[in-house]
Amino acid sequence: MTGFRPRTAVLALALLGAGCESEVPFPTEDELDQLSALHTQSVKPEADPTNKWADNADAAVLGQRLFEDPGLSRCGTVSCKSCHAGESYTVETATAEGCGGHQSERNPPSLLNVGYSRWFMWDGRADRLWSQAVLPLTNPIEMDSDATVVRARLAGEPTYTAAYTQLFGKAPADESDPNRLMANVGKVLAAYQRTLNRTDAPFDADVRRFLQAVEAGTQEKDPAYLGLKTFVRKGQCVVCHKGRSLSDDKFHNLGLKDTGAGRRGQADVVDALMSWQFNAAGPYSDAPSGIDAARLSTLKAQAQTKPTEVEGAFRTPTLRNVALSAPYMHTGAEKTLEDVVDFYNEGGDPDGTFPGVRTETIVKLDLSSEEKQALVTLLKSMTGVAK
Ligand code: HEC
Ligand code: HEC
Repeated sequence: MTGFRPRTAVLALALLGAGCESEVPFPTEDELDQLSALHTQSVKPEADPTNKWADNADAAVLGQRLFEDPGLSRCGTVSCKSCHAGESYTVETATAEGCGGHQSERNPPSLLNVGYSRWFMWDGRADRLWSQAVLPLTNPIEMDSDATVVRARLAGEPTYTAAYTQLFGKAPADESDPNRLMANVGKVLAAYQRTLNRTDAPFDADVRRFLQAVEAGTQEKDPAYLGLKTFVRKGQCVVCHKGRSLSDDKFHNLGLKDTGAGRRGQADVVDALMSWQFNAAGPYSDAPSGIDAARLSTLKAQAQTKPTEVEGAFRTPTLRNVALSAPYMHTGAEKTLEDVVDFYNEGGDPDGTFPGVRTETIVKLDLSSEEKQALVTLLKSMTGVAK
């Protein structure tokens, strides 16, 4: 993008303030900045200093085998892949089945582009991809496992033992600290998951073309005009779904109906994450005193000073590849992208159906059927190319 700015920008902002939204040419200067931040060309996930094996190809190979191995679960029938399968690495149902026929509490997220995220799980209870893996492994309703089961599986399969020993300098049977064993398994699983990327999408090409049309002053004729305008302006989607990853990496209470045990979202997990031995500032991190320690104390301070912001708050998911991962939201309650757009158009679910206070951006939108359709088309264009 060059430094071009529409001359109307200043006037446009003044009009916005006066409530004459429909009169303002799209995009204003601020909107242009938001649009410019959206498009991407394949950029790798940011390095993870807390996992020395994050970008190790041998670790990714072992990670994939372990990801697909039900032998890591206590029941012997559930692997990571049981709940994260197919091209989107999730399931088509609202919840997924773990050991003993138990259903997961929430909708399994797609693992595509998961290496780009900064917090994990809908409520953010893991701060790194490698530590996240310990949660499903040990969750009684998912894989119901522990270090004893995992060690036995690794030690019982010679190719696992060889690969593990080569990476970590010690055979699994000799790894006396059970937490170290679990963390190492998490680190190879993360190395694999960091390769599951689909970045470049028709959306990116559309945004680039649209930005050129803005320079030429012909944007209103561009096929992406109404979708992008609604995404950025009337729908306010870009407030949270921003930047390359189409997420602000933050947590918000959208006012989504939830009667489950975990409905308080982030409010229920901050303290546990602070004292978690597997957090990125803990003894199993490869960079315990790095930026992650500061990130955790910032989170704790936020939760203490603004408790309403964590109550019922869930993480903004990426919208990249979103067409592949129905149903939607942490509850899996919205079956299609049309349903999601209707949810936002209504300003969320009725008060009283969710805990806490709905964030102020979520209001009735009064979208026309053309605007709704344009948003759905835009969301569908965000599917990246498979490598
Ligand atoms: C029984 C189903 C099930 C199994 C087995 C399972 N997961 Fe999940 N996974 C889920 C659910 C449900 C969530 C969302 C949980 C939440 O946010 O509360 C999730 C969340 C995740 C996330 C976070 C994604 C994000 O965007 O925040 C990652 C990463 C992940 N799983 C990887 C794995 C790995 C690796 C394994 C194997 C060690 C695994 N899962 C096993 C159901 C499962
Ligand atoms: C205030 C921040 C915010 C705004 C504004 C916002 N979103 Fe979201 N979006 C989120 C959060 C947070 C979630 C997850 C909510 C949950 O599950 O509780 C989400 C979930 C979604 C999902 C489901 C993704 C999935 O993987 O399940 C889609 C699709 C989506 N948003 C599209 C939009 C569109 C389109 C708009 C504009 C009309 C929009 N969002 C506006 C924060 C926001």
